[in-house]
Parts: sequence; structure tokens; C-alpha cells
Amino acid sequence: MQRILLVFGTRPEAIKMAPLVRELLRYPDQFQTRVCVTAQHRAMLDQVLEFFDIKPDYDLNLMMPDQDLHGLTSSVITAMKPVLEDFKPDFVIVQGDTTTTAAAALAAFYLGIKVCHVEAGLRTHNKLAPFPEEINRRLTSVIADYHFAPTQSARENLLQENIPDERILVTGNTVVDALLLALEKVETSEDPDIDRVKKLSEGEEKIILVTGHRRENFGDGFENICRAIKEVAQNENVKIIYPVHLNPKVQRLVHERLDNQPNIHLLKPLSYPAFVWLMKRCYLILTDSGGIQEEAPVLGKPVLVMRDATERMEAVESGNVIMVGTDTAKIVSSCHDLLYESDLYHRMSQVHNPYGNGEASWLIVQHLREVTGDRETKKKIDC
Ligand code: UD1
Ligand code: UDP
Repeated sequence: MQRILLVFGTRPEAIKMAPLVRELLRYPDQFQTRVCVTAQHRAMLDQVLEFFDIKPDYDLNLMMPDQDLHGLTSSVITAMKPVLEDFKPDFVIVQGDTTTTAAAALAAFYLGIKVCHVEAGLRTHNKLAPFPEEINRRLTSVIADYHFAPTQSARENLLQENIPDERILVTGNTVVDALLLALEKVETSEDPDIDRVKKLSEGEEKIILVTGHRRENFGDGFENICRAIKEVAQNENVKIIYPVHLNPKVQRLVHERLDNQPNIHLLKPLSYPAFVWLMKRCYLILTDSGGIQEEAPVLGKPVLVMRDATERMEAVESGNVIMVGTDTAKIVSSCHDLLYESDLYHRMSQVHNPYGNGEASWLIVQHLREVTGDRETKKKIDC
């Protein structure tokens, strides 16, 4: 029996780890599976835990209002130690590029515990963008023993950093597994957020769904984004729906600039199924989010990414994503093009699966079964 501890802390990590938790729990004879949440996020994490019905075995409850990177990093490392000493996992699984990811990996390494990294190998090669995520990913890659890369190009990034090929498995992204699970449930779910967004979406207007939270956009970037949203909202056939991230720096500025503006609806963060429903329903998405760039191609939704660099070039190459940065004029003109140029809109609305078909969690778990000695599984995989 192998002891496996999944550690996560923020909304996107929870969404991307949920299908993996579910898959690991299918093998109770082989894996003793436990979940530890750092609760780097609180409300936004709990929304996801509730939807996927995950009850953490350890909840470190670390979030502080307006926390800083130094405090959060040190509290994750310190609080992980007793958990690791209590459960004594053979493997710790972390996901992505947050402070929780890098700090939990380091805490496990300090105790000689093997680390598996899900969504390994994403790179912009610019240590300041996204900040601090690019460095969190690189740190985690140096620490990890097993690297689950979502795409071939992520694998190549790892190979360039001298990670041995036999330690890398290309799996697709578990976000697709999560999205497919959510899509199955959205139509029948009784989630009150879904009713709310359905009501809000009534009417003929084209819905532009907005999210934004990146640290490197704080300051001028966010000011420009808000100006652009106000301008785009002046098109009379448009309705902007913007669930605002709970980071107080984002809340303050967005509400100051965009409260009570015509055609702009600011909401609290939505439950995952409600957000998925809205992604399906909307006309286009304006975002700086990482995960949304991966989900949109599956739904055939055009995305304008308000960043200067992306580590997710696959969606740019598939034609679903255009990088627009945070220049007001560029954001406004790109929205205008998508609203009024049907050829461009058609090209960007094709369904693509650059991040896999929803089998990432299955592949990861089969690989873990193989490396932990289940020879029957090995035979099946080899076939
Ligand atoms: C974090 C991650 C980022 C990820 C993002 C996903 C780091 C450094 N950043 O950024 O990589 O893309 O999550 O959303 O790991 N807050 C709440 N309630 C919540 C969540 C946040 O009140 O449920 C507020 C708190 O005041 C908190 C602040 O937001 O201190 C910032 O949260 P933090 O996790 O440090 O940064 P994010 O900007 O959310
Ligand atoms: N999301 C959600 N509710 C919202 C906004 C986003 O459930 O109100 C989901 C979205 O579908 C995606 C993830 O949250 O799966 C993205 O999280 P975020 O943008 O916070 O982080 P990032 O992906 O940029 O790290």
C-alpha cells in the first residue's frame, strides 16, 4: 500500500486536482489517498471542494487577508511539516505554479518524500511574467521526481532543463477532465449561482465574460483593463459579466472603476459549474487567467488574453486565443474585431483539444500504479 498526499490551496489547483483525487480513490487496495489543503484561498477554494465533494483530511486554513508572498511561503512550509510527519506519505502530489505548489514540494523534499508535479513544464522563459508563477514552476521542476506534462511542448521544456525523459509523462491537462465532469452536471445541478447567471444572461446581447487577477497587471495594467472594459461596454449589443477575484487589490480597483456602469455586471466569484455554464453561453472571453486559456478551446470560445506572455502557446496555435496585453486601445480594437468580423469570430470559435481529451487523471494514476509495482497495470499499458 502506497501513501499518497495531494496538496493544494487555490481555486485553480483544486479544480485541476479534483479529478485526480477521484481517480486515486478508485484504487483503495493500492493507494491510501489523503488530501491536504493549505487554504491559501478560502472562499474560492471551498466553492470547488463543495462542487467536487472533496472533504480534506488536513486543512491548514492559512489564508490571511491581503497576504504577502514571504508570509504565505513560510507558513506553508512550516504548517506542512507536522502533516507530512503524521501521514508519512510515500508521494506528495502538487499541481501547477502557486506558492502552495512550490512550498509544499520543498517541505516534502526536506523530509525525503518523493514529489509528483502535475502540469509540469509550462514556461514563458521570463521570470517576471507571470510573477511569481514562472519561478514557482521552475523551483517545483527542480524538486520533483515525477513530472506530468500536459503537452509535448511542456515535455520539451523539461528536457531542455535536463529532466530525465523517463521521469516525464505527457498526459494532457487534468483541467479538461474537470471541465468534462462539470459539463455533465451543469444542466441538472441545483447550484444557485447557475440560476443567477442564467437570469443575468437573458436577452439578445453578446456576453463578454471577463476575469483578471495577475499580480504583474496590478497598477497600470489593471487601470488600462478597466478603461478598456468601460469603452467596450458602450457597444449597445454587449453585456459584460465580470466575476471579480477576491484579492482585495483587485476588488478595490475594479469596484472603484466599474461599479454602476451601464452594461457592466460585477459579480462575486462564481461556483465552478456556474462559471462553466457562462463560458459555454458567452460570446467571447477577456481574461488573464491561465486555466481559462485551457478550457476555452474545448468549448470553442474565443479568448483575448490580457498578458504580454503566455506559457500556453497551444491555444494560440489552435487559433482560439489571441494575446492582447494590457494596452487599452489594443483590447478595445480586438473586442471590436471579434464583435463585428464574422470570419475572424468563426475561425476563433472552432473546438480544439490541445490539452487532451479528459484522460489525464487516468494516465497519471496508471503511471503511479506502474511505478509503485502493479505489474498487471504495466502489462495493460504496454498493450
Ligand atoms: C493565487 C496564485 C496565482 C493563481 C491565483 C488563482 C500565488 C502567488 N498566486 O493568486 O498563481 O493564479 O491564486 O486565483 O500563489 N482572497 C480571499 N478569499 C479567497 C481567495 C483570496 O479573500 O478565497 C484574498 C485574500 O485577501 C488573499 C488575497 O486574496 O490574501 C490574495 O490571495 P493569494 O492566493 O495570495 O493570491 P492570488 O492573487 O489569489
Ligand atoms: N473560475 C471559477 N469561477 C469564477 C472564475 C473562474 O470557477 O468566477 C474557474 C475557471 O473556470 C478556471 C479557474 O477558475 O478553471 C481559473 O482560476 P484563476 O483564473 O483564479 O487562476 P489561474 O488559472 O489564472 O491560475
